[in-house]
Amino acid sequence: MAIRQILNESDPILHKICRPVDNFDERLWQLLDDMRDTLNKAQGVGLAAPQVGILRRLFIMDTGDGVLECINPTILERKGSQECVEGCLSSPGEYGLIDRPLTVKLQAQDRNGKFFVVTVKDLKAQCVDHETDHLDGVLFKSKVLRMLSPDELKN
Ligand code: NI
Repeated sequence: MAIRQILNESDPILHKICRPVDNFDERLWQLLDDMRDTLNKAQGVGLAAPQVGILRRLFIMDTGDGVLECINPTILERKGSQECVEGCLSSPGEYGLIDRPLTVKLQAQDRNGKFFVVTVKDLKAQCVDHETDHLDGVLFKSKVLRMLSPDELKN
């Protein structure tokens, strides 16, 4: 088990475009395992590789029913919209209102390189959209409708 350091939003790495993963090897599996431990410890729902300093196109998410590993993800379709309260492990303690798709159809590869397609909705769709943005150097604060004040967060 290894916890990796989560970079803060001010780190230039989080503003860069990630390269595709082309080796599905031990090194990738170690990264995925470490990200799993890191996400679990941080009690987040999603973590993208650039957040731990790796400029490769992959993220993991866990909205309460197990970890989904998404490598070289491509969003094939976005449908509908939902106004969400959103935060990011790279912007601790900060939350904003944001528009996200209600459903997302995603193609990705698993840790062995096998392609899969999954359609997710609600929190999962929000998370997939957020994490995919990370791979293009886009942080949620650049897309929020508005940030929430500490008073609003108490409710
Ligand atoms: Ni994030």
